[in-house]
This record gives sequence, C-alpha cells and structure tokens, in this order.
Amino acid sequence: MTQRVKIGTDYFATVIDSVGDGIIVVGRDDLITLFNPAAEEITGISGNQALEAVFGKVFSTEKTLLEMVAKTVRTGLTTSDHQNIVVHSTGKTKPVSATCAPMMLDSGETVGAIVTLKDITYIRELEAAVRQADRLSTMGTLAAGLAHEIKNPLGGIKGAAQLLERELCEESELREYTRVMIRETERIDHIIRELLELASPRGMLIAPVAIHRLLSDILLLEKQTKAGRDIRFITGFDPSIPDILGDEEMLKRLFLNLIRNSLEAMGKNGVLSVSSRVLSDYRLAQNEKFARMMAIEISDNGTGIAAADIENIWTPFFTTKSGGSGLGLTICHKIVSEHHGMIKAESEPGRGTKFTVLLPLLQ
Ligand SMILES: Nc1ncnc2c1ncn2[C@@H]1O[C@H](COP(=O)(O)OP(=O)(O)OP(=O)(O)O)[C@@H](O)[C@H]1O
Ligand SMILES: [Mg+2]
Repeated sequence: MTQRVKIGTDYFATVIDSVGDGIIVVGRDDLITLFNPAAEEITGISGNQALEAVFGKVFSTEKTLLEMVAKTVRTGLTTSDHQNIVVHSTGKTKPVSATCAPMMLDSGETVGAIVTLKDITYIRELEAAVRQADRLSTMGTLAAGLAHEIKNPLGGIKGAAQLLERELCEESELREYTRVMIRETERIDHIIRELLELASPRGMLIAPVAIHRLLSDILLLEKQTKAGRDIRFITGFDPSIPDILGDEEMLKRLFLNLIRNSLEAMGKNGVLSVSSRVLSDYRLAQNEKFARMMAIEISDNGTGIAAADIENIWTPFFTTKSGGSGLGLTICHKIVSEHHGMIKAESEPGRGTKFTVLLPLLQ
C-alpha cells in the first residue's frame, strides 16, 4: 500500500524552497509575498530584502520583467521571455528565462503575479560552445587540406638541403644555412603532423583514467623542468571524484598544453593552481541523456590575454609567441569536444588567466 504524504503548509513551503527555479510571488499593491531560495541565488537579492518590498523598486533596473508583471496583472494573461531578460545582481549580468503567470481568485479576479526565473547561463555557454566548435571544424578541415599540399614539397626541400649539406665541405660557412633550412623544415613538419592529427584523429582509446594522478604526474614533471624559476604550484583536488572514462594520452596532452601555456605566461615568479570539483548542478544534455560534470581549473597569475585576443585563442595558428605554433589550444578544444566536455577561458590582462575544463562523470 502506498503511504500518503500528509499535505500541509509546511509541505508546500518545502516544495517551493526546493524547486531549482526562482519563484517570486507579487501580490496586491505590487508587494513581494514569496521569494524562494532559488530566486535569491539567481538575483543575488536576499529574501529578507525582497519580502514585503515593492516589486517595482526591488527590480527597478529590470524593465522587461516589470513590463511582464504589469501586463499579466492588467490582462490576466501569462507572459514569458526566454531571450532578453538579464538580472543584474552583483553587477554581473545573468541570462534568465522568465515566465509570469497570473494569480487568480476563484472569482477570476487577478490579484497578483507569479514569476518564475530559470538561470540559463549554462544553456548560453553551451550555445556559444557549439558555435565555436562549428567555426573550428571548418577551419580545421581547410588547414588540414593545406597541410597535405605542403607536406610533399616540404619533403623535397628538406631532401635537397640535406644533399646540399653533404656537398659542402666540413668547415664551409654555408653549412650554417643548410642547418637552418633543415631545422625549419622539421619545425614545419611538426606543425603539419599536429594539424593532420587534428583533422583525422587516431581514434580514441577509452578506459578509466585517474585524473588526479594524471594531473599530479604532469605537475611533477613540469616542476623539474622549471628549475631556476620561482613558481609555486598549488593543487586542490576533490578526493571524492572517481576515475573518469577517457583517452589517457589525449587527456595528458590536453592538460600538458594548458599547464605549459600557464608556465609560459608567467615570468620568473608565479603561482600556478590546479583544482578539481564536482558540478552537481551542471547537466550537459547529450543524446537526450544527462551527465554530471567535473570541473578542472588551471589558473595562473601570468600576463593574461588581451580582451581582443580571447576570441581567437582557439583558432589554429593564433599565437602571440615567437616560437609558438598556435595549435595547442585548438588541439585542447578538440580533445575536450571528443570527451563530450567543454572548455572555457577567462582572463584579466596583467593579472592572470583561468582555463576551466568540464568533463562528464560516470553516473
Ligand atoms: N595561460 C595563458 N596565459 C596567457 N596567454 C595564454 C595562456 N594560454 C594561452 N594563451 C594565449 O593563447 C595563444 C594560443 O595558445 P596555444 O597554446 O594555442 O598556442 P601557443 O602556446 O602560442 O603555441 P604552442 O602551444 O604550439 O607552443 C598563446 O600564444 C597566448 O597568447
Ligand atoms: Mg601552447
């Protein structure tokens, strides 16, 4: 026999407090009569501040929201906006989707409005990621086509330079030039191999990966190569995170690229921090399944990335370094996509940079 839940005021209060969407009830005289915890979280306004306050005052900067509530109260119709509403809380903007339903008495009289707010930051981020991936795949295909065309003549140049070197006597000064030719053709060859791998991956070898061990190993190696510099390495791993399913080699390459970029962005002194956490509220829809995600953050206090450059860092060949190929982050982006994750960069020029990698956890 199923047990019936006793339904009382407490029960409804608990339900409303537990809902993930923000719920705001605007009663007579435009006074706020209910403001659940999710609404506090989304708007950055505390329940104490909001309750019994005038809705129009609390949300004075939110024109669209005010218009929606006014229209619903006036007409008794439900209004919604999934595009434009942005709630300014701590000065930050947050995309939300809002619905406003009339609160009606049995008599049909509208006595207020019920506003529900859904935080769609993650949806917006996903949309941006999809646009970015589209752009990259077109460019990747183009670049790989070009790489194929370059590979053969390049082999010819290298072969000719080697032959020329052999013709020159040991102490000839011209040997300096042939050496440069060979070294530089090898550099181009390396770039092309990376590019071709970008376009036609070797296929993934999926197995459980102990992600914290992998990160610690990379850090240990990099620590040794950074001798002579005063770089502090900080780690903060959430020990409850289990192994993830992925391609170990690819993941190693991903994090090595990110960590190296950070180290390259710092001078003689610096702090590199690597941490992990579970994002329990972060659900990425994939093939209609939902996946819990883990976030790995790599932050440095290096040069930072200029605002004008941040859009371009994922683009093949974008580099600000004299010896850089500009393929590192393009490869990172591809590896993360292949693991059904997400990667984003945030940077404050002059202060530092944070890369966040999201990877799905097993359910
Ligand atoms: N942590 C960081 N701090 C500052 N700038 C960064 C950071 N990571 C990346 N960048 C910027 O993004 C650009 C592209 O990075 P990416 O790794 O793709 O190429 P690269 O490092 O220049 O070359 P390669 O990785 O082939 O050596 C860099 O040249 C740099 O300007
Ligand atoms: Mg790099």
